[in-house]
Amino acid sequence: MNVVQQENARLRWVTLGASEANVDEGDSIIQGLQQTPKTLQCQYFYDDRGSQLFEQICDLPEYYPTRTEQSILEACAAEIAQLTGACELVELGSGSSRKTRLLLEAYSQANDQLQYCPIDVSAGILKTTALELLRQYPKLKLCGLAGTYEQALDQLHPAELENRMLIFLGSTIGNLNQRECDRFLDRVQKALKPGEFFLLGVDLQKDPAVLEAAYNDAQGITAAFNLNILSHLNWRFQGNFNPDQFTHWAFYNTVEHQIEMHLRSLETQTVALEALGFDTTLKAGESIQTEISRKFHLPTLVSGLESYALHPLQVWTDPQAWFGLLLCQRQCCEGDCP
Ligand code: AVI
Repeated sequence: MNVVQQENARLRWVTLGASEANVDEGDSIIQGLQQTPKTLQCQYFYDDRGSQLFEQICDLPEYYPTRTEQSILEACAAEIAQLTGACELVELGSGSSRKTRLLLEAYSQANDQLQYCPIDVSAGILKTTALELLRQYPKLKLCGLAGTYEQALDQLHPAELENRMLIFLGSTIGNLNQRECDRFLDRVQKALKPGEFFLLGVDLQKDPAVLEAAYNDAQGITAAFNLNILSHLNWRFQGNFNPDQFTHWAFYNTVEHQIEMHLRSLETQTVALEALGFDTTLKAGESIQTEISRKFHLPTLVSGLESYALHPLQVWTDPQAWFGLLLCQRQCCEGDCP
């Protein structure tokens, strides 16, 4: 076998089918745009261009979460590999898997078998990353899953190794509202067997000035990322949004402890999504909420996780306590264990 054949033998692709969670895609967009304030689901940020812009955001001087989480992982990846032992790593929303490389490195040193399942809605970034990783790690077996978290958690294949660790980094959990978060944690609980692991990265509450700067960067990359959602909807649903007629708006809501990102309409305008047979009018100054990014209080989060039988074994933070990394172990609950 030549190198390419060897790499292909270690690679599997699965395109996840529609699950109960996404069959009503068009309906939920219409519903969001009929609400006050209007909303769009932040999953639509991530077409190929949106994923590239997000990668750029991660390198911005103002956007501290990525480098802070990275520094925590650098310090504790070996300890995580040691605490969990050999296990299949399943990453939800893997993107370029840049932080996960630290875990892959630690697991490849600690174990003979290395199994990684990245899951992402953007098939483009998933494929590029998979090929890079196969080249970098000769022991690695990789199964790329193109789909949403919900689809992935509902349709996960049985683990090939004895144990599994679900990985959800970057504080993406903060993009879910409380109800979505509860449903997500319920799915995580169901996807894991007692004894298996869940590694969660979360952004913590801090000075609002630091938070607002992170979502209003001087180079305007976050603004471009926010506006790109409109181009994505135009492409996907034959829409006629004109991104030039909207402006980026992000602020910290101190009551809800969340950053809110909006797109504010610069004029009164009617926009249509032809494929959905839907149109709506925005007044000048009216905004569409495109994202919430919740910032967590560690003790509250820990007790929330416990209520889903996810027991934090170990919690790491950076010296400023800006970001937290929690290694949870799935506990037995009624009906699970003898
Ligand atoms: C993916 N997610 C955790 C990012 C966040 O910080 O909420 C998305 C993002 N939005 C603007 N900048 C980054």
